[in-house]
Amino acid sequence: MANNDSFKKTIIVTVLLCLVCSIVVSAAAVLLRPAQTANKALDFKRNILAAADLQEEGKSVEEIFSEKVISRVVDLDTGKFTEAVDPVTFDQRRAAKDTALSTSLSDGEDIAKISRRENYSVVYLIEDQGELQKIILPVKGYGLWSTLYGFLALEADANTVAGLVFYEHAETPGLGGEVDNPNWRALWPGKEIYGPNGNVAITVIKGTVDTNSNQAVNQVDGLSGATLTARGVNNLLHFWLGDKGYKNFLTNLTNGEA
Ligand SMILES: Cc1cc2nc3c(=O)[nH]c(=O)nc-3n(C[C@H](O)[C@H](O)[C@H](O)COP(=O)(O)O)c2cc1C
Repeated sequence: MANNDSFKKTIIVTVLLCLVCSIVVSAAAVLLRPAQTANKALDFKRNILAAADLQEEGKSVEEIFSEKVISRVVDLDTGKFTEAVDPVTFDQRRAAKDTALSTSLSDGEDIAKISRRENYSVVYLIEDQGELQKIILPVKGYGLWSTLYGFLALEADANTVAGLVFYEHAETPGLGGEVDNPNWRALWPGKEIYGPNGNVAITVIKGTVDTNSNQAVNQVDGLSGATLTARGVNNLLHFWLGDKGYKNFLTNLTNGEA
């Protein structure tokens, strides 16, 4: 009988061990994928509700979402609702990379640093007895280290901010990561995105807003030590609220023409 320390046995044991481990890891990855996908989808919905401050004690995210949220697709070029794609199955992130489903942005247009803009966007409407209450818009753009993905919720006037939430980014915790700080998020509700002449006026300033200033309604405090991420947030909002983003749609919506 060959010695247990022989070269041949060592190789056989090593190969078998690698094989068993790789089967276990692959099986775990495959078996857990559906759960991961479901959790991601749930987290996406949770953040939509968080942006519009719609969470309720004792009710699940799915329950609130199906009771209150209407998903609609907007054609960003026409600014009108479209049935061209199904809001439930449409993969907006993938569409942004697909040349057939997105538009290339020039350097001047691309202030959010996203390179391409998807032609369709899924927006979320909150209605109460047929009356529009809130509009939730997906937004994204580059901060300092990463693309920030989030939701901007607006009141029914399509001008007053109801909330801003980022659900994915890789900014530094304690610096750019402070976009997630509830205290900073609390500064957003009530701010107005457009100025009197319809220009995008919402601005993340460096420092603290002077509450006596007549621009205070359009301004939000910057993030101390994270001016670059804050600038990214400012830029992405300017992009998505501008002509290449939701501006046409928001105008149409308020005029009842979306
Ligand atoms: C390791 C490291 C991580 C940083 N992460 C961020 C960040 O996530 N967001 C950001 O704006 N600035 C970050 N900064 C700081 C920037 O380099 C820059 O100093 C800062 O944005 C300037 O903001 P201030 O003018 O408010 O100080 C980081 C710096 C270091 C050294």
